[in-house]
This record gives sequence, structure tokens and C-alpha cells, in this order.
Amino acid sequence: MLEAAAVLHDVGYSPDLAKTGFHPLDGARYLRDTVGGDPRVVGLVAHHSCAWMEAEARGLREELEAEFPRPPASLIDAVTYCDMNTTPDGTPTNPVDRVNEIAGRYGPDSLIGTFIRRAEPEILASTARVLERLAAAAR
Ligand SMILES: [Fe+2]
Repeated sequence: MLEAAAVLHDVGYSPDLAKTGFHPLDGARYLRDTVGGDPRVVGLVAHHSCAWMEAEARGLREELEAEFPRPPASLIDAVTYCDMNTTPDGTPTNPVDRVNEIAGRYGPDSLIGTFIRRAEPEILASTARVLERLAAAAR
């Protein structure tokens, strides 16, 4: 399930299914309505990488939260970890560089640039929690 969510999390960027321009919502609606995807995977796509903060900036938070209940935080953390440790072309990276790359790509004053800086502390905390869980599991 996590692998599926990690692979599909940005499907909402596809021009063929983009409706609102907010990719977590567009992707989750596509997976729910067209594909009939597992609700757990759909929920993770809807809520990956602090999507609620970008939804708020776009005036879509209520819509997002009403349609897609938030999955357990540990699962959102896991998908966010994957997202933030991989560049858009699939190269491994780290969360600090990834946030900087996003802010640089969209521009610091853009909606995405502002969102990602606001989300940065939570993104770093989320990815740190995954590392803590991995370390605890290895003990
Ligand atoms: Fe995304």
C-alpha cells in the first residue's frame, strides 16, 4: 500500500486529470472516481507532504478534508519521507535539499514557494519521525 501511494502520489500533476490545479486533490479524486483505488492509497495521495497547508493556501482545505479523511500520521510520514528524499527525476536527495529545490523551482514568493517554507518544519519533523521509527525497529 505504501509503495502504491509513493508511486502514485503525484499522479494529479498529469494534465489529463488536473481539474483544480491542486495535485493532491486532483490525484485523489482520479484514483477514487476513475480507478476505484484502495481508499487507504487514495487518502495518502490526498494528504502527502503537508498537502493540507497548500490546500489552505488555495482555499481548498475544507474540500480536501471533507472528501478524504486523513490517514494515520505514521503512514503520511512514510509517503512524505519518500517524496522528500527523491528529486523530481528520481535521484536520491535529502529533505533539506528537496525543500530548497522546490522553493527555488517555483520561486520564494509563489504560492508553492510560500507553502513549502511554511511546511518545512513539519516536513522535516515528519521525515525525522520515520528515521526514528526505522532506528527503533532495527534495535
Ligand atoms: Fe506532490
